[in-house]
Amino acid sequence: MTEIKKIGVLTSGGDAPGMNAAIRAVVRTAIYHGLEVVGIMEGYSGLINNDFIEMHSHSVSNIIQRGGTILRTARCEEFKTKEGMKKAYQNLINANINALIVIGGDGTFRGAHTLYKRYNFPVIGLPGTIDNDLFGTDYTIGYDTALNTVIQAVDKIRDTADSHNRLFFVEVMGRDAGFIALNSGIACGAEAILIPETKTHVHDLINILDYEWRENKKSLIIIVAEGDDAGGAYSIAKKVKQEYSKYDTRVTVLGHIQRGGSPSCTDRVLASTLGFEAVKAAISGKTDIMIGEINKKIVFTPFENASKYNLKINKNMLDMARVLSL
Ligand code: F6P
Repeated sequence: MTEIKKIGVLTSGGDAPGMNAAIRAVVRTAIYHGLEVVGIMEGYSGLINNDFIEMHSHSVSNIIQRGGTILRTARCEEFKTKEGMKKAYQNLINANINALIVIGGDGTFRGAHTLYKRYNFPVIGLPGTIDNDLFGTDYTIGYDTALNTVIQAVDKIRDTADSHNRLFFVEVMGRDAGFIALNSGIACGAEAILIPETKTHVHDLINILDYEWRENKKSLIIIVAEGDDAGGAYSIAKKVKQEYSKYDTRVTVLGHIQRGGSPSCTDRVLASTLGFEAVKAAISGKTDIMIGEINKKIVFTPFENASKYNLKINKNMLDMARVLSL
């Protein structure tokens, strides 16, 4: 096992609130243990293009409260190619970096796993994504903040829905996962929640609307995950409207507002804990794993499993949401 003297840290994939808190924890823990730290700009692109900066304790001052990522981020296609990864590896070796800490989601971990497999290069991952769709941690960094952003927005939309007697379809992020939709839907008392993990039938939705109409409920919120099998919020609203037009209907797509903003206390503490533990794990020779927290305990999950075994949605929560909104 090579002694770890210098580590690299990068953020990759979609930004998530709390990534800066994680970078801060990695940098300061590494310095405390006598290591040198290099920040790699724009994820795997910076690794390929040799865009490295030396990091010191003061490099991460005053960032714990900031959204986004000071190291910036990217979704890098070139890193998926053999040539791209080879360049990245050579740059790591030339810079005398002995271990890499990556903060991102499943795409980031797939890249990290290949880097480890191909070159036996030590890599540790921190779950940084608003989607909460990784196996091996109860929560991902950024999820709690994104949920709170969504519920603040939907509460405001509810005021208008209520004042105007309107039906709103609100689209939230989640291309492949319905965690944001499900939990924000419950927290906002949504009348229906549409997620990619369950089949959406427009006629079932119309039955709900008709029931509510007959019950004299004239303002409704339907939360739609962007990856729902029946389409996004605009497309589902259109299909419904064609067959059932009693409600005055509006659509709101929350979009990237969900990715920004100051991280919540929960995200800051999670990011700090995982960053601190990740450096210790790297020093002790761990590699090819994502570090997570389950039931308040630090857990290491092989990259392959973190991105392959997606967390299952608890479908009972969908039934509960419906009962509680009646
Ligand atoms: O993975 C996080 C996420 O915000 C998804 O929920 C969403 O589908 C995707 O990123 C959007 O990515 P981009 O910002 O690259 O369009």
